[in-house]
Amino acid sequence: MAAVTHHPFLSSKLLQTTKPNPIRIGPTAVRMSLQETAPSLAVVGVTGAVGQEFLSVLSDRDFPFRSIKMLASKRSSGKRLTFQGCDYTVEELTADSFDGVDIALFSAGGSISKEFGPVAVERGTIVVDNSSAFRMEEKVPLVIPEVNPEAMDGIKLGTGKGALIANPNCSTIICLMAATPLHQRAKVQRMVVSTYQAASGAGAAAMEELELQTREVLEGKSPTCKIFKQQYAFNLFSHNAPVLSNGYNEEEMKLVKETRKIWNDKNVKVTATCIRVPVMRAHAESINLQFENPLDEDTARNILKNAPGVVVIDDRASNLFPTPLEVSNKDDVAVGRIRCDVSQEGNHGLEIFVCGDQIRKGAALNAVQIAEMLL
Ligand SMILES: NC(=O)c1ccc[n+]([C@@H]2O[C@H](COP(=O)([O-])OP(=O)(O)OC[C@H]3O[C@@H](n4cnc5c(N)ncnc54)[C@H](OP(=O)(O)O)[C@@H]3O)[C@@H](O)[C@H]2O)c1
Repeated sequence: MAAVTHHPFLSSKLLQTTKPNPIRIGPTAVRMSLQETAPSLAVVGVTGAVGQEFLSVLSDRDFPFRSIKMLASKRSSGKRLTFQGCDYTVEELTADSFDGVDIALFSAGGSISKEFGPVAVERGTIVVDNSSAFRMEEKVPLVIPEVNPEAMDGIKLGTGKGALIANPNCSTIICLMAATPLHQRAKVQRMVVSTYQAASGAGAAAMEELELQTREVLEGKSPTCKIFKQQYAFNLFSHNAPVLSNGYNEEEMKLVKETRKIWNDKNVKVTATCIRVPVMRAHAESINLQFENPLDEDTARNILKNAPGVVVIDDRASNLFPTPLEVSNKDDVAVGRIRCDVSQEGNHGLEIFVCGDQIRKGAALNAVQIAEMLL
């Protein structure tokens, strides 16, 4: 994965230069002003789209820490970044990186998580992992703090015992932020999800490619296709995740399997179609719900208005509903187009349209909220 760190749609202001830092503060910059009791942190994949957002979210939420390590691949070793007014040097991720680290936020891809997650746990670190590497392992909690915080019971800081906690897939998080409060009231029996997924979901390099292609196409040139096989600008295509033998792609099956695990409901029926659209940042999803118990649209709207981390944008008179631009860089997931499904009898079906910033609530924010639950 090639991380690009200066895209205008990313929280990239933090990374300043690729030149070696003349005043090297490292390997760990210790923030003397903070309490000794605050945890020591590591951000794995700090130069990537999610890694940069981790720093933004930690800052925005004033997450307490006594030290923080900035880790990425060898390629980034020596890059400088400033965070909360302090200079840091990016270090190459190695097994020794986790010595003395209480909480590690991982976003460097599944293979890195598989290799280094268990190493970190062995050294007593609590790992919050953004990849799909451990999500479906029975003993690994898969957590959305607003939905199933109880899954983390028993994992505590300060015991010297490491642990793995998985962040769900970004489309799953955004979907369940809206669907769960309704499920808790009327019990979802079947959910049909269609996604419209942004470039940012495929990392910083994909965002760069969309921008480059847009310019190339407008200039009459043929588009550069490195990250995706097909032209992305002015187009859309089935999600780039590998297609499985059942015809679903991996992204779609994540929605199916992760929902069952998070809701602790093996019987809930979920099906999904995932599409990549030429939006720079934030995913949209059309969600059709079928309930065991009746739920009318006014009650559903009220439930959603009161749901944590959810905002309702549902102005039929002005035809104003959630958009990816509206939710970019925002914490809340926006829900609109709330209406009874006319194809189902007796208020047993509902249609909703959801938008959420998948780098933020779909990745970095959710992981930092998990870390906050450890404090
Ligand atoms: N983008 C999203 O919305 C999103 C949402 C949920 C989950 N995720 C997951 O988060 C992970 C990262 O996604 P991203 O979008 O941030 O990707 P990205 O922008 O491509 O960034 C990848 C990061 O991984 C680092 N990395 C790559 N190889 C490494 C190695 N050998 N050792 C250490 N670090 C290495 C990169 O460092 P260099 O700069 O040194 O190459 C970079 O910091 C993936 O598992 C992805 O599935 C992403």
